[in-house]
Formats: sequence, C-alpha cells, structure tokens
Amino acid sequence: MNQSLPAIEVKNLTVSYGPVPALLDVSLAIDAGQLIGIIGPNGSGKSTLIKSLLGFVKPDFGDVLLFGEDAEKAKGRVAYVPQRGSVDWDFPITVREVALMGRYGKQSWWKELSAEDRDIADHALEQVRMGDFRNRQIGQLSGGQQQRVFMARAIAQGGDILLLDEPFAGVDAATEKAILDVLESTRETGRTLVVVHHDLATASEYFDSLVLLKQRLFAYGPPEHVLHPELLSEVYEGTLRIFANLQSGRSREVGQ
Ligand SMILES: Nc1ncnc2c1ncn2[C@@H]1O[C@H](COP(=O)(O)OP(=O)(O)O)[C@@H](O)[C@H]1O
Ligand SMILES: [Mg+2]
Repeated sequence: MNQSLPAIEVKNLTVSYGPVPALLDVSLAIDAGQLIGIIGPNGSGKSTLIKSLLGFVKPDFGDVLLFGEDAEKAKGRVAYVPQRGSVDWDFPITVREVALMGRYGKQSWWKELSAEDRDIADHALEQVRMGDFRNRQIGQLSGGQQQRVFMARAIAQGGDILLLDEPFAGVDAATEKAILDVLESTRETGRTLVVVHHDLATASEYFDSLVLLKQRLFAYGPPEHVLHPELLSEVYEGTLRIFANLQSGRSREVGQ
C-alpha cells in the first residue's frame, strides 16, 4: 500500500437514479486516519456518496479510488454500517451471529469460522458494550442497541475504511457515547472513517473535517469553516428553523 495516496479520492463524480443527478461533479480527497462527517439536508446525496464509495452505485461520470485503486477492486478493505431503516429486524439471528457475519468475508466460504474469528467478533461486541447481550435475538434489542451491534459487525470485519450512514440517528445518549468512543478508538488505529451525520450541533465536536453536500460539494474542510452561517442557510434553506450561536457549536438543527 502506498501510504502517500489518499484513503479516498472522488473525482468529478456524477450519479443519477433518474433525470436529476443525486450527485453532481463531486471531487474530494480524504487522507487516511481521518474521522470525516458528511452533512447536508435530506435527499442531498449523502447516502449516495457512501454507496459510491462502496461501489454499490455506478457513476454516470467520474471515478472513486480507494488507496489509488478502483472502488470495485478495493471492496474487501471497506466495512459499512447501513442506515438503520434499511435492515430487516425480524430475521432470527443472535447478536453474536451478527458480529460473526463480519468475519465471513475474510475466508473461504467452506471453512468453519476459527477461534480467532470468534474472539474478534466478541471483542468487537465488548467495544460497543454489547458483550452481555451476545445471545439475544437482534429483534429484541432497542434501536440504539441494534445500531451498536451493526457497528460491532463492521469493526469485526476490519478493513482500512469504515463507512457509517447516520449511526447516531434516533439513538439514546448511552449509545451515542458508545458509538463516538468506538469511532475515536478506531481512528487511533489509523483507519479512515466517513460518517453521515444529521446533527449540526455536534458536528464540530465529533469530526476532524466536514463535507457539506447538496447534490454538489458545497464545502469540505475543518468544521469551523464548513459550519459557516451563510453557507448553511444557503444549503439548508427553510429547513433550518432554529439556528443560533452556531460558532459556539450550540445550534440545533430541527429541519430533518
Ligand atoms: N434507489 C433510488 N432510486 C431513485 N432515486 C433515489 C434512490 N436513492 C436515492 N434516490 C434519490 O437521490 C437523491 C439523494 O438521495 P440520498 O443519497 O439517499 O440522500 P440523503 O442520504 O442525503 O438523504 C434523492 O433525491 C433521492 O430521492
Ligand atoms: Mg441517507
């Protein structure tokens, strides 16, 4: 691996599902070891950007490179925590089995999981503070607990890049803290994290840099530059109803 290459490089990316592009000419580079937040109103292309990094959606135009390689080729180096609404919670599976799913891609399908795989999965559950729940059915957990288990699966998977789509949406304070701790300790290991985030009030506190998106890339850089009131009112328009004391990080974003 060439360490001088950015972990993620997006060049002139345009993605459409229909006549109007979800992303238009987006270019950005993210260095390894960064904790990056993606912000922007509903429908601004945040999930589409994450899916492009995963190679799940095909660009109309442009390129996505992970450590200089095509996203398709580098797939094994990326772990993903999807938006919670997109998961079927009635599936009969335990917490531990979900965490172990992170290990299946690492080996040939005919091989049993090893003791090491089980240790890695259990350690990931401890990290998100869900070790005590390992034998529970996933459907019996609270939303925040489910979110933590899915995070454990991604951690167990390993990989250099971790992509999370709104991990903090609708979670309780304990989960918020547990997830943030894990994001920070994962960054300490040199991994690169890209997190879709909906709460502008915590964005400057949680992330090294922010990406402000609404179809196009409006801003990318340190939170104090991106969370600029004029820029935000342009991007969020009428959706940002209470919007005070932004510079001190105490704003509330209630338009979502
Ligand atoms: N599978 C899809 N089919 C058609 N349109 C889609 C699909 N996914 C997203 N879109 C549209 O693309 C735009 C961006 O969506 P998305 O990336 O999900 O935004 P965000 O995550 O910021 O809310 C929206 O207008 C959305 O309706
Ligand atoms: Mg989304």
